[in-house]
Parts: sequence; C-alpha cells; structure tokens
Amino acid sequence: MNEDYTNFKPLHFRINTYLKDLIGRELLTNKYVAVFELVKNSYDAGATDAWVKFISNDDHSPPTKIAILDNGSGMSRKDIEDKWMNVAKSSKRDTLDEIERGDLKLSKIPVGRKGIGRFSCDKLGETLDLYTRTSGTSSWNHLIADWKKFQDAPDKDFQEIPVVIREEKKTPSLAAGIESGTLLVIGGLREQWDYQGVLRLKRHFQKLLDPVSPAGLGRFKVTIDAPFLRTEEESIAKKRPADVVNGLVRSTLFQDLEGVATKISVSLKDGILTTILLDRGVQLYKLNERVEGLKFITSIEADVFYLDQAAKGKFTRTVGIAPVNYGNVFLYRNGVRVFPYGEPNDDWLGLNMRKQQGYRRFLSSRELFGRVAVTDIRGVWEEASSRDSGIKDGDARDELVKFVRDKVVLRLENYVVKSSEWQLPSSKEEKAERNAKVIEFLAGMATSDKNVLSVEYADSLTEAVREKGAYESLEFIEDLSKDLDPEKRKALGRYLSAFRESLKEIESEAAAAEDDAVFMRTASQYVKTGTLRLIAEHNLNIIARRLEPALLDIGKYAKENNLSRNLLDKIEDAVKELQLLKERNKLVLKARWDVSRKEETNIPSYIEQYVREFWPKSLDRRGISLQIEVGNINYRREIFPETISLVVDNIIDNCTKDIGTEVPLTVQ
Ligand SMILES: Nc1ncnc2c1ncn2[C@@H]1O[C@H](COP(=O)(O)OP(=O)(O)OP(=O)(O)O)[C@@H](O)[C@H]1O
Ligand SMILES: [Mg+2]
Repeated sequence: MNEDYTNFKPLHFRINTYLKDLIGRELLTNKYVAVFELVKNSYDAGATDAWVKFISNDDHSPPTKIAILDNGSGMSRKDIEDKWMNVAKSSKRDTLDEIERGDLKLSKIPVGRKGIGRFSCDKLGETLDLYTRTSGTSSWNHLIADWKKFQDAPDKDFQEIPVVIREEKKTPSLAAGIESGTLLVIGGLREQWDYQGVLRLKRHFQKLLDPVSPAGLGRFKVTIDAPFLRTEEESIAKKRPADVVNGLVRSTLFQDLEGVATKISVSLKDGILTTILLDRGVQLYKLNERVEGLKFITSIEADVFYLDQAAKGKFTRTVGIAPVNYGNVFLYRNGVRVFPYGEPNDDWLGLNMRKQQGYRRFLSSRELFGRVAVTDIRGVWEEASSRDSGIKDGDARDELVKFVRDKVVLRLENYVVKSSEWQLPSSKEEKAERNAKVIEFLAGMATSDKNVLSVEYADSLTEAVREKGAYESLEFIEDLSKDLDPEKRKALGRYLSAFRESLKEIESEAAAAEDDAVFMRTASQYVKTGTLRLIAEHNLNIIARRLEPALLDIGKYAKENNLSRNLLDKIEDAVKELQLLKERNKLVLKARWDVSRKEETNIPSYIEQYVREFWPKSLDRRGISLQIEVGNINYRREIFPETISLVVDNIIDNCTKDIGTEVPLTVQ
C-alpha cells in the first residue's frame, strides 16, 4: 500500500438515518427482547431495582406508554453525549478492558458490549423521553428523541437529525424517590400490550437473570406495574396465583424443585471440578476432580434437574405453566440469560437428535430443567448481533456445549437410567443387593476419570452398609469387589479405605466414651431451656447408638487377638457405662413423653431410688463405693423428675473427682 498521502484529500463515511432502523428493528427481534435489553442496561448501571410500568389513560384501557425506571448510576450530561449518543459505542467494553488488565475489580461484570441495546426504545415506540441523574446532583437531564424524524428523512444523515436535551429541576413523578438513576418513557407504542403480552414479559424476566448465583435475582429485582390489568387479575389471583403479572418478579423454582427431583450440580473453579448428585434433596455423592484441556472455560456452574412425572407436576403448580412450555436448560453469561438457549423448542445442547437416534434410554431436553452459568470476562462467548440467536458459532461454543453434555447431562442421565433399575427393596437381601448396585455405580462414576481427587458418598449408603456390623461389612464389600472389573475395584478400594478411616474414628470415640458421658452430665447442669435439653438428649442418644456396636466390635477384636486382660476390662467397663447412659436416657425420654407437665414427687425418695438404680455399678467399676442415707422425710413438690436426676448426677460426678474412694450421700 502507498503510504504517501501528499496528493490525497480526506473523505468521510456518511451514515444514513436508516441505520437506526437496521439496529433497532432488525436486530432487536421482538418487543420482549427489547424491554429485556433496556432492563439489562439498568442491571449494568448497578441498579438494585428496575421497574417496568405500563401507563394508560385510565385503569382499564390498554397502555399508551411504557416506562422503564432504575436506581442505577444514571448518566451525566457528558455520559449522554459520549456514550448514549454514540452509536455502537459501549462504555462497557472499556470497563471490561480495565477488569482484564486488573485495573478495576468489578463484582458484577456488565452484560452489554455492543452499544446497540438502547435502540430498543425505537423498537418499542415512536418517542422517547429519557430522564437521568447521577448521584449527588439535584437536577435531571431530560432528553427527547422523536424517532419519526429519522424515518421521515430517509435522505438525511444520522447526525443531522437533532435530539434535544435540557436540564430540569423537578423530579418526574414516575421517578419519585429515586436518588440516582434513569427513567425512559416510551410513547407512541408500536405494538399492543395486553394481559398475555405482559404475562409473557414476566416469564421472560423470570428467566432473565441467573436465579442461583449472587449476581442473579437475589440482588437485582424487577417489578412489573400494570395498573390496567389489576381488575382482571383479581379473579386470576385466586385460580392461578403464578399468573399474576403485577408485582415483583420472582423465581424460587430451584429451591422448590430440590426436594422433589434428581439434581446434578457441577462447578468448575481453579481447575477443580466438583460434581454433586442429589436425589430428592439427599446428597448421594460428591466428586472432586482435576480438569485439564479446557481452552475457553475458566469458571462455570450448572444445576440441572431431571423431571419425572411428580417433579413436572410440582413445576407446573409453582410456575403456572408446564415445563415443556417454560423451557429447559438456560445459559447465563455473566449472570444474564443468553437467548434463546433453553426456550421451549430450543435444543442448544443437541440432546433431542440423540434421543431420536438412540437405542437406549437417553434424556431429552423435555425432561431437563436447569441453568448453566459461565463467567466470561474475555468475551469468548460473544452473542450474535441478532439478539435471538445465541452465541456465535466457533470453538468456544463447541467447548461449552461438549462440557455441559459430558460433565452434566451424561452424568445425570447415567444415574437416572441406572437408578430406575434399582427396585425398592422389600427384603433385607434385596436391600443389600441394591446397596451393592448403588455402590458399584458410584464407584464406576469415580473411575471414569483418572483425575479424581476425592469422593464422598452419602451417609445413608455408608450407614446401610454399617447395619451389617462394622467388620462384617468390610468383608461384605471386599467380597463384592471381587466381581468387579479392575478399574471399579480400584475405586472401591478408595471407598474401603475411607470406610476403614471412619471405623478408626469410631474406635477412638469409644476410648473417649467415658469422657463423653461425664461431659454430658456436666453439660446438663447448664442445660436450662427445653431446646438445649433436647439437643443434649439427642447427642446422648447418638453417642450411645454409635458407640455400642463399635465397642462390642472392639471387644471382639481384642479377644480374638489376645490383647491384654486390662484392655478387655476397660472395654467391658465402657460398654457397661454406655448401657447405663442409654438406660438413663430412656428414662429421661420416657419422662418427657409420659408427663407433659410437672409431677408431684417426694423428692428425697425419688433421689434415693434414682441413685440406687443408676450409680452404684458405675462407681464400683471406678473403685468408689457409695453410701446413701435418706431419712424419713416427706418433701413433696411439683417438679420435672428428670431435672432432679440431672442435678444429682452432677453432684455425684463432682464428688468422685475430688474424693478418693467413698461417696457418702446424705439427703436432708
Ligand atoms: N439505564 C442506564 N443507566 C446508565 N447508563 C446507561 C443506561 N442505559 C444505557 N446507558 C449507557 O448507554 C450506553 C449504551 O447502551 P446500549 O445498551 O446501547 O449499549 P451497551 O449496553 O453498552 O451494549 P449492548 O448493546 O450489548 O447492550 C451504555 O454503554 C451505557 O453507558
Ligand atoms: Mg445494553
């Protein structure tokens, strides 16, 4: 190319007014997407709230204007000129550059990038009144754009059409109470808005922001205000509360589904991928593994539910619309939804093709509901300019889709397909068989990748195995593993060593049994309120339940291995102490059930009875003898008997610490 410009004259591109139509009406494909773009700007401006208001001449006729209000940063006069009036300029690209360079830390990454979203105003209506003010300023910047003027002058250049602005002292009534923020009032609506339209808009918003991550609906709220629908809604509110459009847009779907469906949660952070599988709220397993070879994905989260008939029913009752019509797996990029992924007929993960061709049971998008959330600072997943066609094709998109299919959908599918084979057990043998199958399945999961760092299995599973007795179950599993292929056996080995670890823990707990018992009695002195007492009793029960079989096992082990007599005695003592603990606890619990209120008791004789029954054996083993003397006193009071037991326990306990071998107890 010739670098010598001496004989050249400069020329400039001219931009025809038609450009606005091109952007506003061709790229922003429908009125819902258009309102969505404007609310996205509110979100980007750091607002905590955005309001979409439909304004009619009276409370019954359809709206003539739409107002979008936010309490975000607002714009100064200079911002308006440099940013808002600058076509295809996005201040957010600069922000993103700063974040990437590390000059700026933003807790929320802006979603805007292209600098075209504002033309949604034109998509929605012929006129725009924009009011905006920044924090600390008293007056508002009021800009008026009359888009008709652009249409009426097809031969003019874009910059020749004036847009007027002035400063206003008075806060517009629609923005009452807003310190800083932006109000857009759009008039001359190009399309009608009725109940169905506003309802559809509300559903859009429910899906707009990531409902789970902190950048989502939790912090940013959208409220719809459509007074013209209030009367109509009164009857709807009774029949279908989920179909009410006025008010705060909420989505509690994820919480609601958790208890009724199977869910997989996957998250990748700092190169470690964590997978958690939950069945109706119960965690089945948690897998941590190292992931390598990802070029684009740095941080991703996914929560996907498998919806069976029951879960679909729950879904429909909660949202007021069946899942097929609501959507499937949504993609959120930096906290905001990427359209149209997850829409009812969308299959961005390519699952339905597979299902049609499949010879075995594959999950289709109709059986799935959930979210995938990616963090994207570098802009690797650019949205296509037309805001209705998702992410641009390319390697980054391919990697994302493959990741979600392999690490999320397939893992969930694997479990769903397998678990349908595990019948509900009716006999003990069947139960053992089923547990074995479950463990085998989980072991298979863990070995599917060499990079596994740790696996945690559900307590209920380990417990089910533990039912057979600690050492027996070890053998049981070892036996089981003989039939497995080597890879799975390896995973089971990992499980077994974890199990041995927990056995060891129980063993050391046994050694601390006596300490615990003493501790519990001392603690009980401080246990004044019902709740605390309940906790104490509960703990007591747990200790006793867990320790007894373990102790018996240890005893067996000690005997078989000819360990010292001394140790055997100690173990025997511990077992007896434990039985005592259980007995006493039973009494306390019984008292709780038998007497719902205080009981008239002769306190001295109650103490005598109680002490004689529960203490001598225990003290005896420690070489302490107990002399109890209760005179013929009649002291009857309304008490909770067990509170007396607790006090007495405490006294005796303290005595045995200080006094040598004899406890003389006199009740006067
Ligand atoms: N509600 C608002 N509050 C504060 N500033 C706003 C608001 N709406 C728009 N702006 C400013 O106007 C600019 C243009 O907005 P526009 O939506 O056209 O582009 P964008 O959000 O940057 O990118 P995209 O086209 O991807 O949405 C924004 O970058 C921002 O600086
Ligand atoms: Mg925008």
